[in-house]
Amino acid sequence: MAVIRLHDKTFDIYLSESTILEKVKEIAEQISNDYEGKNPLFIAILNGSFMFAADLFKQLTIDAEICFIKLVSYKGVRSTGHVTTAIGLDHDIFNRHVIIVEDIVDTGKTLGFFIPKLHHQQPASLKIAALLHKPEATLHPLEIDYTGFSIPNKFVVGYGLDYDGLGRNLREIYQLCEEA
Ligand code: IMP
Repeated sequence: MAVIRLHDKTFDIYLSESTILEKVKEIAEQISNDYEGKNPLFIAILNGSFMFAADLFKQLTIDAEICFIKLVSYKGVRSTGHVTTAIGLDHDIFNRHVIIVEDIVDTGKTLGFFIPKLHHQQPASLKIAALLHKPEATLHPLEIDYTGFSIPNKFVVGYGLDYDGLGRNLREIYQLCEEA
């Protein structure tokens, strides 16, 4: 479907399922090369990253572990600017090679909040894999080690990302249509 409607808003197709999956495979190949023999621990940030994390993890060709945390900052189509931990980290990351898995880096506040907490626990290394990045919206500059797509500063849904709860099940990524 080229155009979809969720709640009160209309969205246009932006990235097809095959484009996304090809990119996820590329990132998995890069990570598999970079982390051979290191048994990295992936920390996927719920809710939005569940689909990216699953597809990425399936494509790895090395030993690796995964766990999940839940951070909340978004309401509707905007960041509240206030990040809270809804489900915390239950793994010891001391001396582990850690890769954070994010669906999208928008303002960067979520990772700006979370990364110092992780550094405090002295991982052996800490890198970020983000499927999407909105460079124009990023207020807290971050070095993203594995980026899928740099996108314009427009709200997107699908492939795990939602608009007020809807749209996470879509296989493609859709962009908010300009209001007339
Ligand atoms: P940040 O803290 O502003 O970088 O935003 C991080 C979180 O906000 C992401 O993990 C998403 O869950 C959510 N988010 C940011 N931009 C979008 C978007 O365009 N669509 C849906 N969710 C978004």
